This record gives sequence, C-alpha cells and structure tokens, in this order.
Amino acid sequence: MDREKSATFLKNLTGIMNGGALSLMCSIGHKTGLFDTMAGMEPATSQAIADAAGLQERYVREWLSAMTAGGVVEHDVDAGTFVLPPEHSGLLTRAAGPLNLTTYCQYVSLLGQVEDEVVTAFREGGGVPYDRYPQFQTIMAESSFQRLSKSLLSQVVPLLGDAHDRMTEGIDVADVGCGSGRAMVLLADAYPKSRFVGFDIAGAALERGRSEAEVLGLANIRFEVRDAAALDEHECFDLVFTFDAVHDQAHPDRMLAGIHRAMRPGGQYLCVEPKASSHLHENLDMAMAPMVYTISTMHCMTVSLAYGGEGLGTAWGEQLAVEKLTNAGFVDIMVTGTKEDRGNHYLVSRKPGVSAESQSVGQHG
Ligand SMILES: C[S@@+](CC[C@H](N)C(=O)[O-])C[C@H]1O[C@@H](n2cnc3c(N)ncnc32)[C@H](O)[C@@H]1O
Repeated sequence: MDREKSATFLKNLTGIMNGGALSLMCSIGHKTGLFDTMAGMEPATSQAIADAAGLQERYVREWLSAMTAGGVVEHDVDAGTFVLPPEHSGLLTRAAGPLNLTTYCQYVSLLGQVEDEVVTAFREGGGVPYDRYPQFQTIMAESSFQRLSKSLLSQVVPLLGDAHDRMTEGIDVADVGCGSGRAMVLLADAYPKSRFVGFDIAGAALERGRSEAEVLGLANIRFEVRDAAALDEHECFDLVFTFDAVHDQAHPDRMLAGIHRAMRPGGQYLCVEPKASSHLHENLDMAMAPMVYTISTMHCMTVSLAYGGEGLGTAWGEQLAVEKLTNAGFVDIMVTGTKEDRGNHYLVSRKPGVSAESQSVGQHG
C-alpha cells in the first residue's frame, strides 16, 4: 500500500466531487444571468447582486458562497462584498462568446436527469432514447450558435476552398442532423443565391430553425424531418455539412452512404466531429477528456444504442472517422480545424467526379 499514492488520489477524488458540484452551480450562474450581472459590477453585497439580477437574496448568497469556495468569485470579508474578476468573467459570460464555458456546464445537470436510466442500460443493455433529454436541443442550439456565429463564415467556409465563391454564385447545400439549424440559417442569410436544407429527426428543433429563418425573411432555406439513415436524395447537393451529428447516429454507415448518394459528383462534404483520437491512450492529455467520455456514456453512445445502433461514442476519433468516410466513397479527406473551435476536427472530403458547377466555372475562365 503506497500511502502517498492514496493521499494523492483522495485529493483527486475530492476535486472530482467538488468539480461536479461546481459545474451545477456554474450552470445556475449562467441560466439566472448571475455571471452576466456580476461581470459589470464593482464589489457588491449579496443583496446588491441579487437586486441587480432580480433574484432572491438567500439563494444568491448561498450560490456566492459556493462560487467563493470554488475560487470562481472573490470575497472581501471586512466589506462583506463579492466580485467576479475580469480574468474569470471572460470564460463565464454570454459576452465571452465561444469562450463561455458555462454553456457546457449545463450538460452536467442534463445528464444527471437520465442517470438512473443509464444505470439500467449498464445492466440490461439498450440505451436512453433522445426524447428522454428534453433540454438537449436547447442547450445544443445555444452551444452551436456560440461557436458558429463567430467562426462559420470567417473560419469554416474558408476551409472549403472556393465554397464562398460557389455559394455566392448559387449552389445546393444540406446539413444532415442539423438540430435547430443555426448553421444553415447563418449561411442562407449570407448567400441568398444558394439553396439550403436542414434535415433532422427532431421536429421541434427544426421548428426553431424555421422561426429564425422566418424572422430573417429567408426564402432560400427549408427544414425537413428526415431519418439520416434513410436519405433518398440522389445527386442533388453540391455541399453537405454534418456538425457533431455522425457519432451519435444509430447507423452512421447508412447515413454516410446516404450523404454520398445525395451529393453531385465532385461535391464537397464537411464532417465536423469532436476532436479525439480513436485510441483512448492518445486522448488522456486532452483537457476535456473526462467530460467527453462522460457525455458519450450518458448521451451520445447511449442514444445510439437505444435504437439498436453502433454506439460509436463521442470520442470515436479521427482514425475511425477517416476509415468510415473512405468506406462510404469519399476521397481527398483532409483533417483540419479552426482557431475558434479547439474541440472539433473538421474533416473536409469530396465525392469523386467533376461537378457541373466547377465545369461551368472553369469554362467561364
Ligand atoms: C449532437 S446533435 C448536433 C445538432 C446540430 N448539428 C448542431 O451542431 O447543433 C445531433 C443531432 O442529430 C440528430 N439525429 C440523431 N439521430 C438522427 C437520425 N437518425 N436522423 C436525423 N437526425 C438525427 C439529433 O436530433 C440532433 O439534432
């Protein structure tokens, strides 16, 4: 028995428990707007903070105690005040955009809601279906928007060669497993001559995309409820996206085959998937590895297994992704990324053949 090892592990385990608890408190700080309120405030009492946020003082005081104990907020004992230092608020507020980690803290409570069902699945097999996560699409839409609103046009589109020019001229674009359709709305707004469609199995999420498109008055976008494993489009898209949508599929190979079939020859496919290796030991240095494998067990893997699926898991990784894309017929696969999004791999590939689009661009010089 190595006592030092045991003491080190006790410290680790205490950190694990405190981290889980504080994630819940950070999620509450996000949902109540407390971090946003405190970011603009001088040191203040719990009453002043509660008043500024329009919340109940007793709850805010207890939350501030947890935040102080966790090193998120600083406390002046003599003045009886609390402050959120700017070095912290840059990672905790809506103004922080893609750096706001509290959006992801919300996944901890979301996963907690299905813990008992996941335990049952450990014993009996199967999984927890999508409809057992009522808040999933809302949180997903929030985190996707946070990530994509800044980077989609300025960093993601440039990964796709001349896609900006082709979308400016007018092409057909699809997003499979689009969720609330943020990506398609942003692109449809930016490229009025192109036509955009978002497919997903979740009708309520698509409704959110439809409303956003309506508010913006976009006539070049539509959303359709569709099982990604049963796409029956044939050679009608020049560019297809999937954002974090392959790894939790029940039947990812059928999805990839359907996407390939739906693309015109020479068309491009951008598959965005969590940045990971397919080998556990190569992921252990990843800052978010424990979170990734937890989300996998309690959402991405289990939703796939719930429908008799493959259960790829969130960290299915780059090597397996390249293998599956190759098997589906995609070529020139390039694994790249963006500055804004350190958590995902961007796999750019192509369906063999020359598109009519690029032929006509070529003919015009
Ligand atoms: C992790 S979410 C990503 C959503 C969206 N692409 C984003 O980045 O915000 C995966 C999406 O795949 C959808 N999905 C899962 N299985 C599907 C299926 N068989 N057919 C179509 N969509 C499916 C889910 O409803 C969910 O919206």
